[in-house]
Amino acid sequence: MQQVMAGVDDKDTDAEMSAMLNDEGVRTETGTESNKDTDTKTGTMMDQKMEHKEKDWWKHMTLYQIYPRSFMDSNGDGVGDLQGIIMKLPYLAETGIEAIWLSPIYKSPMVDFGYDITDFKDIHTEYGTMKDLEMLITEAKRLGIKMIMDFVPNHTSDQNMWFEKSVNREDGYEDFYMWADAKMDKDGKRMPPNNWQSVFYGSAWTWNEKRGQYYLHQFTSAQPDLNFRNPKVVEAMDEVMRFWLDKGVNGFRIDAINHLFEDAELRDEPLTGKTDDKYSYEYTEHVYTKDLPEVMSMLQHWRKLVDDYTMKHGGPARIIMTEAYADLKTIMDYYETHDGKKGAHFPFNFNLITNLNEKSDARDYVFEVQKWLIYMPRGYTPNWVMGNHDNVRMATRFGPKRVDAMHMMLMTLPGVAVTYNGEEIGMQDNRDITWEDTVDPPARNVGREKYKEVSRDPARTPYQWNTQKNAGFSSAEKPWLPVHPNYKHLNLKQQMSQPSHYSVYKSLVELRKMPAMCRGQFRAEVLNRDVFAFEREVKGDNSVITVINIGPRARAVNLTEVFGLKYQQQLTVLVAGSKSTHSTGNALPADALPLAPYEGLVCMLE
Ligand code: GLC
Repeated sequence: MQQVMAGVDDKDTDAEMSAMLNDEGVRTETGTESNKDTDTKTGTMMDQKMEHKEKDWWKHMTLYQIYPRSFMDSNGDGVGDLQGIIMKLPYLAETGIEAIWLSPIYKSPMVDFGYDITDFKDIHTEYGTMKDLEMLITEAKRLGIKMIMDFVPNHTSDQNMWFEKSVNREDGYEDFYMWADAKMDKDGKRMPPNNWQSVFYGSAWTWNEKRGQYYLHQFTSAQPDLNFRNPKVVEAMDEVMRFWLDKGVNGFRIDAINHLFEDAELRDEPLTGKTDDKYSYEYTEHVYTKDLPEVMSMLQHWRKLVDDYTMKHGGPARIIMTEAYADLKTIMDYYETHDGKKGAHFPFNFNLITNLNEKSDARDYVFEVQKWLIYMPRGYTPNWVMGNHDNVRMATRFGPKRVDAMHMMLMTLPGVAVTYNGEEIGMQDNRDITWEDTVDPPARNVGREKYKEVSRDPARTPYQWNTQKNAGFSSAEKPWLPVHPNYKHLNLKQQMSQPSHYSVYKSLVELRKMPAMCRGQFRAEVLNRDVFAFEREVKGDNSVITVINIGPRARAVNLTEVFGLKYQQQLTVLVAGSKSTHSTGNALPADALPLAPYEGLVCMLE
């Protein structure tokens, strides 16, 4: 099976810097400098190495997504807030988290829980104030945690001033949004301009009486799409980015980027034939509303903006990561288009979420991992997303027994590991939320019969800190979403005091500092239908081998053939699962490695 080199991402290292530094971030001889001033030279070398590290801070980070509404409520109103996050920063620092991404905290009527923004430069009142946000940035910085903000360019709230001005055709705002005239049917009845649907069900067009036109919304009708063919919109959003960069944030997660542009002629989309429901998003092929080539130009423009900013102001690289659910080849264009133009530092890799489930076997896992590495343009940084606020939680997708093994996989793959808050303790979806308590717009849109099929509420319930009221999340009578009833036995406090998903997770975060983890060559092998293994190998240091039994039977596997290990070579356990009979430091035979059902092990090769 093919070997994939996945170490330092040279593509994103300044050409000048890479001439002086080798792959390992260590300075090489340039041969042009005099040897006179040795002390100064050593000093400079150190500085350059530091600077190099600082520039590349993101390439092997453990990124933790905070969903602010559900993380920690500091003032007892049932809704998480910025002071709550500040309270819990020491916990994240202690866990070894290097960067956090905050889902939107901007002013919003909360129709789509913050993804509908009324003011991109202000804070939502329930979450706190700009002062709180500044305090959060300062505190995070003090604790060595980088801050990534959610940047939501595709749409605003319908209560945004820009939209009001656009409705009124105010000077400069007439074309800020996607407006179109009605079509008339044969009876003279007003119809939307074409057959496009919203991702969240129903027509993507809503009539605005005042303006006398339809406006486009790829999500809820309270989220009108901005018109990125209008240079004034581009300018306004650039300014938003600069505003946050000036506040000291380290980068952006760009929301729903592949929805930015639509066909200028507003042509009907072809039907898929998958459903007769013309309001379903499945009804048409989204050839005119998703992944248009203009999206890439816009992304490249934003990449230049953050790169220029970093260049001008110095300090750590300001980075961009993108959210787009699309086919693999399209996703790879988000790293770099065929003409070599850089886009995101990395586009989120959702394949472990969308392409694997509890029925997947060892071959599926290895295939998914290899696929990303094969398609990724050379020299870029891979990334692996285990969960987020839009998808079923990891413990629910793969089953609670696989949580430790899944974390072993996530954390020993090359590149960036992304964790959604709560996954580190194996939180599960709360699938029993009633229709009355359901708040997620796509769930409300499809109605009482079908809401459970699409609702994202189950994965967004409050963080389970301890056994106190509302799992320690809030002192309110009723939090905004019901806490999962399993919090009495599934919570952080308990997991901190015993072998647990959390203790395994924390050991893995620590393990990521090993040279083999940071820059080791990567190889993945299928041992049998239930067991697969990864090897991370680096010259001059110990190799690390991750072995995972995804199946329900105990297995003993022989690793000597696949990784060319010596006969009867011993492996030393570095991390074992919370229920494992093995523990750190145990020696195990490489030719008959015993694995319990669903067991994962991370071992070192002496
Ligand atoms: C992204 C967000 C999702 C939101 C949507 C519309 O997909 O992750 O939560 O509903 O964009 O902004």
